[in-house]
Amino acid sequence: MHVKKTKKIVVLATGGTIAGWANDAEQPQHYQAGQVSVDDLVAGMDLKGYDVVTEQVVQVDSKDMTFAIWQSLLRRLTHWLSLADVQGVVITHGTDTVEETAYLLSAVSPMAKPIALTCAMLPANAPDADGPGNLRDALAWVASDAACGVSLVCAGQVHRGHAVQKTNSQWRNPFTSHVLPESGTSLQTPSLAQLLDATEWPRVLLIYSHSGADGRDVRALMAQDPPAGFVVAGTGNGTVHQALESALMEARGQGAFVLRASRCAWGGVQTRKGDVFPHAGNLTPVQARIALILHMLSLQQT
Ligand code: SIN
Repeated sequence: MHVKKTKKIVVLATGGTIAGWANDAEQPQHYQAGQVSVDDLVAGMDLKGYDVVTEQVVQVDSKDMTFAIWQSLLRRLTHWLSLADVQGVVITHGTDTVEETAYLLSAVSPMAKPIALTCAMLPANAPDADGPGNLRDALAWVASDAACGVSLVCAGQVHRGHAVQKTNSQWRNPFTSHVLPESGTSLQTPSLAQLLDATEWPRVLLIYSHSGADGRDVRALMAQDPPAGFVVAGTGNGTVHQALESALMEARGQGAFVLRASRCAWGGVQTRKGDVFPHAGNLTPVQARIALILHMLSLQQT
């Protein structure tokens, strides 16, 4: 006799618009993120076929994401994914920084089991709220045989966690994924244990190269409160204004790590003769910042 066992899927909630609430549901654009509990989010859903366990990890607007929250999330992921009867995890998250969390989890993913992040552009009580559909899609994806690694499920699409970026601030489907063969300088990743033990994460700042850049901010920082590193979002193929480049070379001479990415949404950075700074290939500036933080963490602790 074939007995079909339903495997558990754990929903870890972190807040965001998917858990947002508008005082006036007719004006859903005026809402607060991170208001509705995960139990209330799933209460109205048809979960037939799924054995769902919920846990509220935090309740934040994802613009306020912190390293400490990432550590809590990783601890809970490690716990749940280590249980034999858990098939995978769905994480509800705000859209604004979900690409950073997705990239981090992809880099240090605690287990081979699938992890799907999901989110929404409309609060939970908007008449046409997109959260329930996205959550249902994320559960279906994690339950499927095709699911593996870290992904982001939104608006009927599945994006790979290390390649997704929010490229639209309004649309129901605000994400695109970049696909490029080019990889940048090789950076190390700390072990999960190293990451969880870290009490302070290296301070890596993100700066833009732009018309009229003069490097004064970099020099002032290095004089007063030097960061461990800079990711410079360069123009085009990662080029950097000569005045900013001079300041960053000085900063590097003083011990700061400098990594280049591109301001362009697509295309990344390709190696060119005479490059002054290493580059992050197809990583977006925010992903490059996380990659550099992880690299520096791994160096600190070896
Ligand atoms: C957030 O990122 O928490 C708020 C915005 C959103 O989820 O779309």
